[in-house]
Formats: sequence, C-alpha cells, structure tokens
Amino acid sequence: MKGERVGVRNIAKHYGPITAVDNVSVDVNAGEFLSLLGSSGSGKTTLLMMIAGFELPTAGVIKIGACDVTHVAPNKRNVGMVFQKYALFPHMSVRDNVAFPLRMRKIDRAQIERRVEETLAMVQLGDYGSRAPAQLSGGQQQRVALARALVFEPPVLLMDEPLGALDKKLREQLQIEIKALQQRLGVTVIYVTHDQEEALTMSDRIAVMSRGQIAQIGSPASLYSEPTSAFVAEFMGKMNFLPVEYLGHAESGLKVRLTDKSTLNVTRSLNGRAAELSPGLELRAAIRPENISVAARGSGGPDSIAGTVETSIYLGTHQILLVNIDGRVGPPLHIQAPASNRLPVFAQGDAVDILFQADAIYLFSGRGDQ
Ligand SMILES: Nc1ncnc2c1ncn2[C@@H]1O[C@H](COP(=O)(O)OP(=O)(O)O)[C@@H](O)[C@H]1O
Ligand SMILES: [Mg+2]
Repeated sequence: MKGERVGVRNIAKHYGPITAVDNVSVDVNAGEFLSLLGSSGSGKTTLLMMIAGFELPTAGVIKIGACDVTHVAPNKRNVGMVFQKYALFPHMSVRDNVAFPLRMRKIDRAQIERRVEETLAMVQLGDYGSRAPAQLSGGQQQRVALARALVFEPPVLLMDEPLGALDKKLREQLQIEIKALQQRLGVTVIYVTHDQEEALTMSDRIAVMSRGQIAQIGSPASLYSEPTSAFVAEFMGKMNFLPVEYLGHAESGLKVRLTDKSTLNVTRSLNGRAAELSPGLELRAAIRPENISVAARGSGGPDSIAGTVETSIYLGTHQILLVNIDGRVGPPLHIQAPASNRLPVFAQGDAVDILFQADAIYLFSGRGDQ
C-alpha cells in the first residue's frame, strides 16, 4: 500500500452561526504523518470528518490523489478511519470486525481470511481472532479498530484521538507502534490530538489549530523553535511571557526594557515585522525555561538580572526553578537548569543572577503577562 496526497483547499464548515472550520488549506504529502493539534472546539474533528466524507463542507475542495472527493461518499473514498471510541461491532468476533470492510467490498473469502490474519498479526493480535471485543482490553480494542481501518490497504488513514481513552503508559506504547506501522506501510496519516507531546512524538508535520483555522503548520522542531505567534509559542511546550517596552536598536539587535527597569538584548526580530517597531511600544517577550541560566548572586555578569528562588525541584538530570525577578510583580520565571555534581543546586530563598539567552528571546506584539 502506498500513501496518497491529500489536498484541502479553502475548506469551511458553518453550523448556523458557528464557524467550526474557517477557510483551511493544507497539502498533506503522500506517506506523510500530519497531526491536527489543538484544544477542544478548535475544529479538528470537523476538518477530519470532511476529509473522511462524513461531513459536507460549506465551501472548498478536498482532493485525494488527483481525485476531487468533495462530494464522494465516505465508503467510496478509500480512506481508513479510527475513532476515539473503539466503535467495534460488539456482537462480532475480532476476526469478523476486521473482515467487515473486505466483505463490504465483495472480496473473495480465501483472500479475506488471508488479509485478516495478516492484519491481525501486524497489530500483534494474531491469537485473538475468535474473541469478542468485550473480552479485550482498551488497548487491544483500539488495535482491532486499527486493523479494521488498515485491512483494505487504504492509501489514507484518518485517526481522531484514537488513544484518548487509554492510560498514559499504553498511549505512549501505541504511539510508537502506530508510527512504526505508518512508516513501514507508507500510508498517509492525518491524526487528530489535543496532546502536544503525542503530536511531537508521532508527526512529520503538525498543524496547530485555533478557532477553526491553522495557526501554524510545520515540523515539530520548527513549531517549537520558530513559533510565529504567542499562541503557538505557548501551546508548544512551556514558555515564559514578560511584558516589555521596546527601546530601540542596539548594536547586536533590539533592546527592550522589563517592568523592573532592567534591559534585555534581543537578537531576533518581532515575528518578521520589525518595521512596525517604534520606541515605547509595549510587547511581550517570551523565552523557554531551558534558555534561561542561573548563577549565584554576583557571578552572572553585567547583563544578568537579580532574582530570588521561590521553588526548587531537583529532577536528577536537571532542576526546575521558579524564580521571582526582584522588584517585579507577576508570575515567577519557570527555569530549567542543568544539574550535575559539578553544578550548584539552588534552593528556595537563594539570591541568584538570571541570564536570558539573547537569541532565544521571542518578541510578540501585544502586552501583559498573558
Ligand atoms: N454538529 C454540530 N453542530 C453545531 N456545532 C458543531 C457541530 N459539530 C461541531 N460543532 C462546533 O464546531 C466547533 C469545532 O468542533 P470540533 O470540530 O468538534 O472541535 P475539536 O474536535 O477540535 O474539539 C465547536 O465550537 C463545536 O461546538
Ligand atoms: Mg474532536
């Protein structure tokens, strides 16, 4: 089985006054694993259902390979589908559940038997064919659903929070299994999740959804390190936000002032819109916990900012520090500092110097602590 391209062009879905999906365009490459990541209500399921054919778009075109499938019935799209709820036929054996899509396609019996056994083996359920779904664990039931979606060798597999009902350990195991299977088969996967770690683990690219739109699409690494909005910056991992005032250009980039009057050098530009900057403008500086370093008070150098450790959590390979900038009200900075027996371990109440890595500070328009 080989993956097909999926093209989504200017797709919208309105339910009366509600805009569930708002003019979304995305091209999914053949064999690609794309995740739709977003919080509840952001339009992920609606978009996936339109690609599957269970919902009709209000506007736009959907293509699978070279075919316009916008108005093609779901069972004619040759797309596999796995839902969060197992949705297995409870009165049928595992084997009959998996055989179902092949029977619908009027494939001959010997071939059905062979394909079902192969597919059950592929999801590591070779010995479970005669069981009823109720006799399986949640993870096993979801493997059956996966087998049923893959048995007819669809070029495209759509999954809507398929691991959402499973506990964390099983979820992590199945994430890796599904990813390995997808790579082996070369099938194109569009995968809905609200779990950013899951999206990071599995995806070639992630489309971050917000209010029915794609806020940003890119590789896991690019979304993490090059967010184009404060929304995506915060959604992908932990981010500190600080209200700042733009002061002007410095020799090494931009200069901003924190509310405690200390200044910061920033070597990145504002979302690529540096031309709009004018002195006095209020902005939001953002920096990730691992890009802030901490030193004992007095040893941080001239660019450091004085702070006090509010909470210290030692985690073996690193420590998490919550540090208040002296003279600043607002939430403490979340800092991830490396830990080893050669580095100091900071404790609650320690006076420290904080140093922001200048090339890891993002500036976003807007004001406030978020
Ligand atoms: N059948 C429907 N009728 C009315 N509103 C709907 C319907 N389905 C979804 N919505 C609305 O569309 C928006 C997106 O929903 P959904 O696609 O389910 O989001 P997600 O899967 O990201 O949680 C939500 O505001 C939701 O309430
Ligand atoms: Mg949903």
